[in-house]
Amino acid sequence: MSVSEGRIHVVLADLANKYGPLMMLKFGLVPPLMVASNHMAAAEVLKSRDGACSGRNVPHSVQVPGYIEHSMVWADCTEHWKLVRKIWRTELFSTKMVDSQTGIREEKVRELVEFLRRREGQVVQLSDAIFGCIINVLGSIIFNQNVYDYEGKAFDNEKGMKGMIRQLMVLAAKPNLPDFYPVFGPLDLQGIRRTTSECVKRMNEYWGGIVKERRASKDHSRNDFLDVLIQADFTDAQVDALLLEIFGPGSDTSSCTIEWAMSELIRNPNKLLKLQEELNTVIGQSKEVREFDLENLPYLHACIKETLRLHPPVTFLLPHRATKTCEVMNCTIPKDSQILVNTYSIHTDPAVWEDSSKFKPERFLNSTVDYQGNDFQYIPFGAGRRICPALNMASRTTRFILASLIHNFEWSLPDGMVPTELDMQDAFVLVLAKTVPLSVIARGRSVSVC
Ligand code: HEM
Repeated sequence: MSVSEGRIHVVLADLANKYGPLMMLKFGLVPPLMVASNHMAAAEVLKSRDGACSGRNVPHSVQVPGYIEHSMVWADCTEHWKLVRKIWRTELFSTKMVDSQTGIREEKVRELVEFLRRREGQVVQLSDAIFGCIINVLGSIIFNQNVYDYEGKAFDNEKGMKGMIRQLMVLAAKPNLPDFYPVFGPLDLQGIRRTTSECVKRMNEYWGGIVKERRASKDHSRNDFLDVLIQADFTDAQVDALLLEIFGPGSDTSSCTIEWAMSELIRNPNKLLKLQEELNTVIGQSKEVREFDLENLPYLHACIKETLRLHPPVTFLLPHRATKTCEVMNCTIPKDSQILVNTYSIHTDPAVWEDSSKFKPERFLNSTVDYQGNDFQYIPFGAGRRICPALNMASRTTRFILASLIHNFEWSLPDGMVPTELDMQDAFVLVLAKTVPLSVIARGRSVSVC
């Protein structure tokens, strides 16, 4: 099988057209790889057989001592996994907590808008700025601090947070010999685990000082997530793993989504106009977007939903594993098989979606199809017990940032490029990223800050 230019999601979708919605592939000396490629196969894996199919297949690259024992993302559905998900749910992502974080998101998005206003008329790589805004939202929620410096003095190079998170994604997605022939594990011939381990160490160093200072200060009145962890007697290693699993899955997924949404809107000027009109009508041309406006912006929501349909960031979900032998679509899945759910082929299935490859946000306007994990033809956040725990927060953040970018600026492409020339090629690097990052020129519209 040729895995051309990171487009494995397309290769597997093509294979599914030929061999059916549930494929069993055999590589090396490990249990088979099952690929579910339509909504019925996904419903069986994530609903009917959720209990047996919710383990994790742990790539060799992430088996970094000191981290993996405390990981929630790579754990099976153990007591530890339940405990950490409960903490996430109650302390970070319950509706009450997400509501209480509104002020932080509004402040951080204002900083993003101010930065773009300072760069007015210049070419900016939008993904960097968006990524910065998102990790600053997370940094403020977790330990009351910005992590990203828009002026590039600290973190925005290859060795910065963005570079490292992307590197961790690339490493986790890279074909690695021990994943097919476990006997080669200890040798780590491609050095993938060693490089992952170095990245994890550097990430831990970022917040290591903050954690140390907070423990020493004994003042835990800030009421941020770090205080909660310290007061609950989490060890440094546990805190490190938790923070890594907030910044890692939390940043690239949301920033890719906004970058794709902006790219689709710039390529489809009539949809962009429709969104601008909605924002002008609901918010008013000269007022800034506030988070409470989101519930009155159905076309904005439809744009984000349509983006997540065409460009699902976690394309194969995270790799599941059968914890016992089970039947899916009358096919026996042996214990320990790795299970991938190809959301790209599910979301573009022409039997379910009309004009499946076209960007048409309108399809979601009078539709009850949602991403809460009940409609298996549309599962950008997964479904069942492993569904993304940050779904509500991610949905709000992506809508809010997109609305602010569109309402505050007019956008054009550099070098006289016309919208139809915009490169829309994607590549799978654990998230479905744009191969060529979106470069744009922003021109401010007059909007008053409340
Ligand atoms: C548009 C944004 C996002 C999308 C589309 C997304 C999607 C997903 C998907 C598909 C999964 C895998 C589900 C499975 O394996 O069955 C997942 C898991 C996860 N996501 Fe998200 N996510 C997003 C944002 C976030 C954010 C903002 C955070 C944290 C701040 C986050 C944290 C996690 C974690 C920790 C898991 C692992 C859960 C587990 O293993 O039980 N995600 N996400």
